[in-house]
Amino acid sequence: MQVIFIASEMDPYCKVGGLGDVVGTLPAELSRKGISVKVILPAYGSIETEKYDIDYEVDNFFVEIAGKKYETKVSELSPKNANHEVIFIGNREFFDRQNVYTDSLGNAYDDNFLRFLFFQQAALKYIERSDLEPDLLHCHDNQAALIPVYLLYKYQNSKSFQNTKTILTLHNIGYQGITDFHHKKYMDLPEELFYPESLLEWYGQINPLKAGILTADRITTVSDTHAEEITTNERLSAGLMNVINSRNDEVVGILNGVDYEIWNPETDRHIKSNYSLANFDKGKKENKISLLKEANFSIENTNIPLIGIVSRLVEQKGISLIIENMEELLSYNLRIVILGSGTEQFHIQLKKLVQKFPARLFIDFAYNVPFSHRIIAGSDILLMPSRYEPCGITQMTAMLYGTVPVAHKTGGLADTITDMKNGFLFDDYSGEDLINAMGRALDVYKNRSQWEDLVINAMNSDFTWQRSVENYLDLYRQVSEKQ
Ligand code: ADP
Ligand code: GLC
Repeated sequence: MQVIFIASEMDPYCKVGGLGDVVGTLPAELSRKGISVKVILPAYGSIETEKYDIDYEVDNFFVEIAGKKYETKVSELSPKNANHEVIFIGNREFFDRQNVYTDSLGNAYDDNFLRFLFFQQAALKYIERSDLEPDLLHCHDNQAALIPVYLLYKYQNSKSFQNTKTILTLHNIGYQGITDFHHKKYMDLPEELFYPESLLEWYGQINPLKAGILTADRITTVSDTHAEEITTNERLSAGLMNVINSRNDEVVGILNGVDYEIWNPETDRHIKSNYSLANFDKGKKENKISLLKEANFSIENTNIPLIGIVSRLVEQKGISLIIENMEELLSYNLRIVILGSGTEQFHIQLKKLVQKFPARLFIDFAYNVPFSHRIIAGSDILLMPSRYEPCGITQMTAMLYGTVPVAHKTGGLADTITDMKNGFLFDDYSGEDLINAMGRALDVYKNRSQWEDLVINAMNSDFTWQRSVENYLDLYRQVSEKQ
């Protein structure tokens, strides 16, 4: 079976969040099971092409959008020790920029719609020009959600796609790619698809994710609880509940896994000292002291609990809840290290708090993979009060390092954390519940043997891809056999 992933992130080439982790790992897992997998990605200017040896150009053509021709350069990479291939779609105007989606202040680029429209058109054209005949196009998030629409309305007679089915995975339903109605002129699709309440129209705008949900052969999201949430809760579905439910329950949740080659405290090259359950106390302490130093915190009393946060600093992640309740959190005897970047307003508010509490709060507004590993390894507790969380990778990696999560009971957080067993969950998205859960965690932290039990449970969790890969394989078989 040949499957082509179409996505906007893939670790290690370009990653903003968990989408990059998933697309970075799942293709290798699937190809180990005999599936032929290609991944099509934008060739962002930030990708270290020399490091990965990606300069090999395999195709060169023009994609025409609203009468303008965009030069498209395609390069290919077969990662070492892997069976899958990665195809990079290049265009200087759209992708030769510092970041993937946003400018340096965290604002989305004005032309994101056009950038990813181009990417999707170019991906389909490349597949056709290469005479590929994929069984499945596995599309990820809004940046690839128009693929099923184009297969239906523009490529229905193409030899390449005669037997091609589509799966759309919703990693983050909060980002739908909604754009101004005048962008219709770029899309080259029948006028009636834009009539009020028809496929692409959404309250006077254009909504690519909605159109993808309505046209893909199957829709998946990344945890069971989130699958349930988006079919029963209008707010958690970001307004798309009825659209999703119109697909006759064709939504399944398949939990993400973690790449154990990247996230393993015994072998992690980014951290101060490697450790396992067998030498947990020593390993945790050494990593903690090193992190305390890095945060310019005193190392006099290493027993004070250290809380880590590694996150995009956006509303989804509960950052406003953290900011509003920071003083109360710091009224506990604890210290906090934050790594992340995102919305400018959050940066401003957090900077003020650091000025007020320099000995107890440290923030690095950066994207820094080695530092993210050092925080995960050196903290006692990971705080993740997400407003919604389709799956969440960070809490899983934290648990594998014996860093106990305190999290809001939603989506994948609810599916991977069991309260008082391997972490702490709070039900209501409120400051009161957050403070309460942190208080409970700190009480247990004082009781070493109880804490040890939590650490053992967390580190023994199974977050491998094994079960989920089987679920994807079953789904691929079902979908490709669908008439
Ligand atoms: P989301 O995809 O919603 O951002 P996840 O928890 O699924 O959330 O995935 C986040 C991923 O991005 C994790 O691998 C995490 O370690 C990584 N990450 C988030 N912020 C940073 C940062 N500032 N620097 C390095 N890695 C980060
Ligand atoms: C999204 C979600 C996150 C999930 C990731 C990978 O970014 O916010 O919960 O883990 O995608 O599926």
